[in-house]
Amino acid sequence: MKALVLAGGKGTRLRPLTHTAAKQLIPIANRPILFYVMDQIAQLNMTEVGVVISPETGSAIRDALASNPWGCHFTFIPQDEPLGLAHAVKVGRDFLESDAFLMYLGDNLIGESLQDYVNEFERTKPDALILLKEVDNPRMFGVAEVDGSGRITRLTEKPDDPQSKLALVGTYLFSQEIHAAVDAIAPSARGELEITDAIQALLERGKTVQSSRLQSWWLDTGKKDDLLEANRLVLDGWVQRDLRGNVDSESRVEGRVVVEDGAQIIRSEIQGPAVIGKGTTLENVRVGPYTSIGSDCSITSTKLEHCVIMDGVRLEGVEQLKDSILGQHATVRRTTDQQQILRLMIGDDAEVCV
Ligand code: TTP
Repeated sequence: MKALVLAGGKGTRLRPLTHTAAKQLIPIANRPILFYVMDQIAQLNMTEVGVVISPETGSAIRDALASNPWGCHFTFIPQDEPLGLAHAVKVGRDFLESDAFLMYLGDNLIGESLQDYVNEFERTKPDALILLKEVDNPRMFGVAEVDGSGRITRLTEKPDDPQSKLALVGTYLFSQEIHAAVDAIAPSARGELEITDAIQALLERGKTVQSSRLQSWWLDTGKKDDLLEANRLVLDGWVQRDLRGNVDSESRVEGRVVVEDGAQIIRSEIQGPAVIGKGTTLENVRVGPYTSIGSDCSITSTKLEHCVIMDGVRLEGVEQLKDSILGQHATVRRTTDQQQILRLMIGDDAEVCV
């Protein structure tokens, strides 16, 4: 089987971060989201991987994957405009040929291996196997209606009046039949070729569409809160204590905390789970749980928790920073006596004085 990873798109819901960077490269526990996607694919022993890229961020995606610790063979597939998930299948057709494939949204994270679902797909050979997960806000997702025996009866993209709470998880297994279904659909009201419409077309042609319920968590990191939640879950589940940087005798580091090489922790407290990147200096800082701090940051006299802080960020005297995402080389500095809790989402190179 091949894998098709969708790493194009616009990322409008994550502006301003996506004005300058690909959302699939936003770090979760200091690793790009896309790397977790690739970990999953490599674990399934799929080596032929097509990566759909956009004109704006395609070269950054290529560069990020260049080190290729997964030993995959990447084929980069340009998509001139983000015309929908089914359109991405269309542009991937030459790469996919007549093979069955796993389609994986490059900004989705799943808390379990997909091996059992792939085995099921290979054993029963349906035309599509989709994964479903119950969500509280089905209006935001592709939604499946399922009959009493678990058979899918209807799929709708972002319905106004959802008939079920079962959302389609951002990984799909398809046979080559999906190509004819993609050819048969027209763009939706929002101008995209929807993958839900293509799967619905499979159903209408009498093809077999199976579903499985995902057991673990799944997050679509398309929005700020989901991204922070992904960071929390990954730190919580996958981070082990590893102190390689320098922690001075006046500092306290509790729980599962990674302090990478060359980091300096001076008169500070860190409560895990948390990661502190290479070459970062913390002086007189309190880091609360669920915080990721990238490389080469300089943070002084600040308290922060439940944040994603990217490489090269400077924070000075910030009384409390919570639930925030700060782009690369952003600066936040307190210039007044006023102390306040800040919740920020700021893009690369931004400067904020509070
Ligand atoms: P979405 O999050 O549905 O779309 P988007 O990235 O354009 O974001 P927004 O809605 O905030 O503007 O995309 C899911 C994944 O699929 C994501 O990794 C981007 C990718 N994608 C493509 O590669 N091509 C496309 O045409 C679309 C719509 C998405």
